[in-house]
Amino acid sequence: MDLSTSIAGVTFRVGLMNASGALCVTQAELEALGGSDAGAIVTKSMTPLAREGNPHPRYVAIDGGSINSMGLPNLGFPAYAKLIPDLKRFEKPVVASLAGLQPDDFLEGAKALNAAGPDLIEVNLSCPNIPGKPQIGYDFEETERLLRAIQNILTIPFGIKLPPYFDPIHHQKIADVLQRIGVAFVTVINSVGNTLVVDPEQERVVIKPKGGFGGLGGRIIKPVALANVRAFWKIWGDRIPIIGTGGVENGTDIFEHVLCGAAAVQIGTVLVEEGVGVFTRLEREVSKCLQRKGYPSLMACRWHVEGNFGRWTDRSSKIQKGFTVRLW
Ligand code: SIN
Repeated sequence: MDLSTSIAGVTFRVGLMNASGALCVTQAELEALGGSDAGAIVTKSMTPLAREGNPHPRYVAIDGGSINSMGLPNLGFPAYAKLIPDLKRFEKPVVASLAGLQPDDFLEGAKALNAAGPDLIEVNLSCPNIPGKPQIGYDFEETERLLRAIQNILTIPFGIKLPPYFDPIHHQKIADVLQRIGVAFVTVINSVGNTLVVDPEQERVVIKPKGGFGGLGGRIIKPVALANVRAFWKIWGDRIPIIGTGGVENGTDIFEHVLCGAAAVQIGTVLVEEGVGVFTRLEREVSKCLQRKGYPSLMACRWHVEGNFGRWTDRSSKIQKGFTVRLW
């Protein structure tokens, strides 16, 4: 089965990769991704200096997903800038995730990454876990200002990792900004920020940082992720590739992301829970799913159902071999 995809001129053997954050901090973790069936190696979001991150416990698996407040633990720009050229030996795209605690950090990182030469850069403007720091992606003017400054420095195609939006006006506003900038791709969504999980037995929150408030991930957020992928696809179509992230546990979840418009899919919680072997399982499952539905490739289903997808009919209707919209 052809599971390949292409983003900003970069070809991926398979359109599946880790979400930045999941098992991608250390050299050993990045090399494990390199040696796995993942279609790319995405680094942890990096900052100028190495960071320990927030106090433990800061990641907890919960029923239906996970909550985390990692606080950007990472090795710092210089360490990743050294590692990235070496990761190229795995012959798959290397995507560097760029973060910062203040605007100048992003500019410093852009310079370091130009020299390191990853294939793509994902600018993370959506980390919800740094105490006292806002998620920049919710401030449209600041997002535009910062991306322009980054764009003036970067010589490598860059995209942006966004937080979830819940109102079509916000999708349109941020889409206008990103179109003006001309970003190479968009990754949606980061975790659903500042949620709270409570342990009623212990009578306390389950993670320590930020009074227990943290980013929700995993199966539980799939509808939010699909809605964001779909909302941007409706605005842009194929003009800006969308990497769908959120709630992918099996091959059918990947299929759903691509049906909604994703050009590739990232894996977070289930990668943390299962390890890098998850990519082999997901590749098998999505191939089976596509075969059963009669699609020749992963990307084919985006186009085949476009005419009907998202529209209700007044009765069950066959719209593509094996694909049925059912009423209930
Ligand atoms: C974290 O390190 O806190 C998670 C990264 C993110 O949500 O962007």
